[in-house]
Amino acid sequence: MTGPGIATVVARLRAAGCVDAEQEAAAYVGAAPDPATLDGWLTRREDGEPVAWILGTVTFADEVLRIDPGVYVPRRQSEDLARRAAAQLPHGGRALDLCTGAGAIAAHLQRARPTARVVGVDRDEAAARCARRNGVATVVGDLAAPVGGDGTWDLVTAVAPYVPSGELRLLPADVQRHEPRTALDGATGEGGDEVGVAQEVAHGRVGLDEAETQDGHAPSLEGRQPCPPGAPL
Ligand SMILES: C[S@@+](CC[C@H](N)C(=O)[O-])C[C@H]1O[C@@H](n2cnc3c(N)ncnc32)[C@H](O)[C@@H]1O
Repeated sequence: MTGPGIATVVARLRAAGCVDAEQEAAAYVGAAPDPATLDGWLTRREDGEPVAWILGTVTFADEVLRIDPGVYVPRRQSEDLARRAAAQLPHGGRALDLCTGAGAIAAHLQRARPTARVVGVDRDEAAARCARRNGVATVVGDLAAPVGGDGTWDLVTAVAPYVPSGELRLLPADVQRHEPRTALDGATGEGGDEVGVAQEVAHGRVGLDEAETQDGHAPSLEGRQPCPPGAPL
């Protein structure tokens, strides 16, 4: 593709406050089919859209996943959960991934245990569609609703909306502007605190002895300054 040189792209991204300007520039220049597309991508990025929505992919636990615009971008911080869960899922076992989003955790479980039955649940149809494109059998529905079978699973995972409403303003500006609030706001979903509901549901669907739970709440963001546009997630 003949278009602006990489230095020009880096300069635009830097001016927009992108922290990994060189790496991002290389990704856009490498993937854009023509200069007009590249320019459109840079404009979207300057407006703060997540890189994953622009490129349509994200790498999670060493695998490339499809990410559709409007769907929560899986975070690196969840890779450890996905790997630990995979290690606990028996071959041929059954796993339920509540609030599956793009299906990152469920897809990892399925890859690690091809003979297992892994089901994702998300109430957002766009997220469910995206998870299916990532190979995850996904049900559209509330995390507390039954999903069929005898209701029990070997393993239940969940990264439920985890930011208290009052702390949403402390998230990076780009995240606040673009990412779906329903994926982040843990205190506005029906039934209140989604993390608490997810924990209850998980306990109800696996034997308590097998359930490994963490304090599902993210560390408080209070005391942090709001992040500027382009800051890493
Ligand atoms: C923080 S995102 C996590 C997505 C995915 N687990 C990941 O780690 O990338 C939370 C997801 O939960 C979904 N969600 C929010 N409230 C829900 C509910 N009550 N029942 C089912 N899904 C819900 C949102 O649509 C969003 O996709």
